[in-house]
Amino acid sequence: MTNPVYVTSPSLPPLDEFIPYLEKIWESKWLTNNGQFHQQFEAALAAYLGVNYVSFFTNGMIALQAGMQALRITGEVITTPFTFVATTHAIHLNGCTPVFCDIEPDTFTLDPEKVESLITPRTTAIMPVHVYGNPCQHVRLKQIASTYGLKLFYDAAHVFGVKKDGVSVARWGDLSMLSFHATKVFNTLEGGALVTNDETLKKRIDYLKNFGFADEVTVVAPGSNGKVDEVRSAYGLLQLKYVDNEIAKRQKVAAFYRERLNGVPGVRILQDLPGVLHNYGYFPILVDAKAYGMTRDALYEKFKANGIYARRYFYPLCSQFPTYRNLVSAIPGCLPVAEKVAQDVLCLPIFPDLDEDTERRIVSLIVERG
Ligand SMILES: Cc1ncc(COP(=O)(O)O)c(C=O)c1O
Repeated sequence: MTNPVYVTSPSLPPLDEFIPYLEKIWESKWLTNNGQFHQQFEAALAAYLGVNYVSFFTNGMIALQAGMQALRITGEVITTPFTFVATTHAIHLNGCTPVFCDIEPDTFTLDPEKVESLITPRTTAIMPVHVYGNPCQHVRLKQIASTYGLKLFYDAAHVFGVKKDGVSVARWGDLSMLSFHATKVFNTLEGGALVTNDETLKKRIDYLKNFGFADEVTVVAPGSNGKVDEVRSAYGLLQLKYVDNEIAKRQKVAAFYRERLNGVPGVRILQDLPGVLHNYGYFPILVDAKAYGMTRDALYEKFKANGIYARRYFYPLCSQFPTYRNLVSAIPGCLPVAEKVAQDVLCLPIFPDLDEDTERRIVSLIVERG
């Protein structure tokens, strides 16, 4: 039996290059609380992403919660059910009600044409997700947010390095949250960030990230602890040197899959979107059970039996979890596109060091059917 193949495998920088950073940390004994590597990493990230202000967080989830707090989001928040559950939980844990809106069939992102009918006097924000790194329809969403006076806070967990018409997608909205979890295109083991173009907002976020401390004796808000230590900050700095190369390797894997899966009856694959520089963090396929002759779940089980651990991102929909399924917007039938995509989607293994033999094996398992 060959080694198991997971949906992703993290990229780590060369260990010998990391040791000198550790030596500096050991020497300085400055371990956390905005140390020198933390400061350098935030500056380097802002430059790499082409954004104004970055606040590095211990993970994306805490960043989402702090971001909502910083924007003073309350009441109802219009969001997508087709996401990792952190998006929905952040809304719930901040005392707000998620209002689920259906998604677009080609990008799986929030459908702006369905947002307006969900706005009520209690709505204060829209929280869309750039699913699989596919940028949302920002121009339209921004227009709606501005017409109704809503905040626009992107869950941009998947969008590291993605650009639309040459501009970083992380610049969009009032705020964007990035995740640097081990499974992401760019990882700091665990980690995340909030990105904004507003200097005052960055300052408030940094207070909230450190228990609400504005200075030694002033606590301006009930903040949580989202700080990051010097070890992960240094690791992030080093990772940045390699990320372009890693994305280029991912692009090759995607090209291999596309070339061989294009035209397989019953299997839909996504193409690059016009004007978008992608990061190839995910490779979703949609399995139409009737046309393919086998359900998505049967294919998933067949992969597993062959040591390939593809993932059904995002299934079940967040609207189907016990905390949320009794909401009016969660009623089955209200979210037809999301329901269909959640039933058909399967994310294939994609990571920089995926070898061609394994890629061939994965393709064969799909092409042979049955
Ligand atoms: C869409 C989405 N939102 C939020 C998160 C949460 O990020 P983290 O794991 O860094 O807390 C993730 C990933 O884990 C995600 O995929």
